Amino acid sequence: MIKKINRIKNLKLKKKLVCLTAYSTPISKLLDNHCDIVLVGDSMATAFYGMENTKSINLRTIINHAIAVKKGSKKSTVVVDMPINTYKNFKTAKKNVTEVFRQTKCDAVKLESDGKNFNIIKKLVNLGFPVMGHIGYTPQNKKKFKPQGIKQHEEKKLIKESLEIERAGAFSIVLECIGEKTSKKITNTINIPTIGIGSSKFCDGQILVTDDLIGISGFKPKFVKKYINLKKILEKTFIKFKLDVLREKFPGKKNSFN
Ligand code: KIV
Repeated sequence: MIKKINRIKNLKLKKKLVCLTAYSTPISKLLDNHCDIVLVGDSMATAFYGMENTKSINLRTIINHAIAVKKGSKKSTVVVDMPINTYKNFKTAKKNVTEVFRQTKCDAVKLESDGKNFNIIKKLVNLGFPVMGHIGYTPQNKKKFKPQGIKQHEEKKLIKESLEIERAGAFSIVLECIGEKTSKKITNTINIPTIGIGSSKFCDGQILVTDDLIGISGFKPKFVKKYINLKKILEKTFIKFKLDVLREKFPGKKNSFN
């Protein structure tokens, strides 16, 4: 675990970090050869479960998916998102983070910040739990989408926040939807890797929600690049199956037992 965390930290300024989300064993197996970090994100609430936002997912569900993801992963660093209210104070955080590590055997957990939680991060790190920070547009805390760090006072606040998280001992920080200038400043100010999502190329690595990148989530904000429209391909496939069944072309002789 610590070896993997140190590898991530040491890659700053040497190589861009490649990161994606996974919620299942087959996807995590596919990502393992290509990703430095695989995140079991609370984005599963919207991308996988069709919930309205990430606030409805609970710890039991995240743990179950993390166990599945860990099964498919050998090389990549598996980070598990802590759902809202599972780290509202240190006592709760300690209990829940301990359970996440015990049950999933993950490499790290991720906590959203929104100008707080530095002390909780510090105490978790002191207990030996690697923690990834998350600042900017943090969906557990913010109601309406708005890019962050555009105005000067926001930039100052975010730089201060990233320094606090580094000081607390986090091994990296996700920057979500932070303006280019501010992302660049944060990346150049702190010594731990920044992982951007909608935060420009001036980060030490990039992360996207896999379901967005392959085009099955139906979510297409400006910062997502859809690399394949899997939804279209799947739709065509299911129509083919339907027609085969209706025309009695499936199952054929080779799919049947004689
Ligand atoms: O839940 C998630 O997938 C995330 C990423 C968007 C960084 O937190």
